[in-house]
Amino acid sequence: MDAQTETDVQGAVVETARRVLPGGTFGNYAAEVVIREGKAGRVWDENGKEYVDFLLGSGPMLVGHAHPEVNAAVEAQIQKGTTFFANNRKGIELAEAIVEAVPCAEQVRFVSSGSEADLYAMRAARAYTRRDKILKFEGGYHGMSDYSLMSLAPKRSGNFPMPVPDSAGIPKNVRDDMIIAPFNDADAVAGLVRDHKDELAGAIVEPFQRIIPPAPGFLAALRKITADNGVPLIFDEVVTGFRLAYGGAQEYYGVEPGLCTLGKVIGGGFPLAAIAGREEIMAHFDKAKVGDENFLVQIGTLSGNPVAAAAGLATMSILRRPGAYEQIHATGRELMQALGGLLQRAGIPAQITGEPPLFDVVFTDQPIRDYRSTLTGDAELMRRFNALLRERGILKGESKYYVSLAHTPEDVRFTIAAWESAIKALKA
Ligand SMILES: Cc1ncc(COP(=O)(O)O)c(C=O)c1O
Repeated sequence: MDAQTETDVQGAVVETARRVLPGGTFGNYAAEVVIREGKAGRVWDENGKEYVDFLLGSGPMLVGHAHPEVNAAVEAQIQKGTTFFANNRKGIELAEAIVEAVPCAEQVRFVSSGSEADLYAMRAARAYTRRDKILKFEGGYHGMSDYSLMSLAPKRSGNFPMPVPDSAGIPKNVRDDMIIAPFNDADAVAGLVRDHKDELAGAIVEPFQRIIPPAPGFLAALRKITADNGVPLIFDEVVTGFRLAYGGAQEYYGVEPGLCTLGKVIGGGFPLAAIAGREEIMAHFDKAKVGDENFLVQIGTLSGNPVAAAAGLATMSILRRPGAYEQIHATGRELMQALGGLLQRAGIPAQITGEPPLFDVVFTDQPIRDYRSTLTGDAELMRRFNALLRERGILKGESKYYVSLAHTPEDVRFTIAAWESAIKALKA
């Protein structure tokens, strides 16, 4: 138990969790951490231990926890009812804000999670091209559908383009409809697209894959290869949307896909995600436009939920203020430089990889350019470093620091001090 706490309240909750939840968790994070509350860039666990929070709810809380403006918008909506199934004004306004912000977005369809958004984006590409196969990248994460859980984190590398399923329970034949390519290798992608162009329905990519930035020219090459062969390009912007820039990775890297998926930030901490893109592809969600044969049926009880839409709109209005992205990037840059410097001075081989709003270290002397290069990292050292940091009041994902607009200079100082101390402990 932590020295800061008088009673181990958390222990009892964890015990209950271990009894009623498989693995004692929701499936997301360590069972021994139970978060009681959050405010701005910090969270507290059930024992009252305080953390600088780089988990950010796995990304949605870009403007910080319990932001007063987001809370006010949510409270105002809650007084008027929380879900209607029918269209509502907040959801329509959110769709309009997305169309204004995101370069490829001419129309928007809402769902409740990023997983669903990616599933429907792939289905829309299939409906549009009337082909079956989807190209995805090894190590790329697109949620939990059967199709997405191919070669996300293969323990043993398959030969490209053979997919390796990541989960039990996936029908064998799903493999036949997925083609796996190495990230940041435009030549390999060009070969695969040419070889399979008559059966390829779409290519889905995280434009910034996990914490790996695209190599210069890679996304533009991908755009060209897919366009030349009539294959819709899908950017999974569930993480990068409204984070790298207001218009997402497509604005930040200057490459526009045909479709994209959004999640996390656009729901402001509530369940909401979206498929957005060019009207001619989005038309498949509209029976009146494409007819029975080509219609992609899509219904969801909570789609376009007004509470989530109000939270998303309030979050986005904060992000539109002058200087918001400059601040997020400046905070992230300072953190990345500090961590790199500390590890270098300690003589620990390490690569700081990512973009300032989202980065981490990989303990390797090899450059990081794709999934396989991340496997050169020392996973045990990473695990120890993360555990030492959690003891020191830093909450983060296994391989991600999400930076928030709410992180203060004091949060940065605290984090750098925690890194210094954890690195000392690593070397002891
Ligand atoms: C790039 C990417 N796509 C899709 C998803 C799935 O989103 P959700 O967890 O809302 O289903 C995630 C979730 O982290 C993600 O990072």
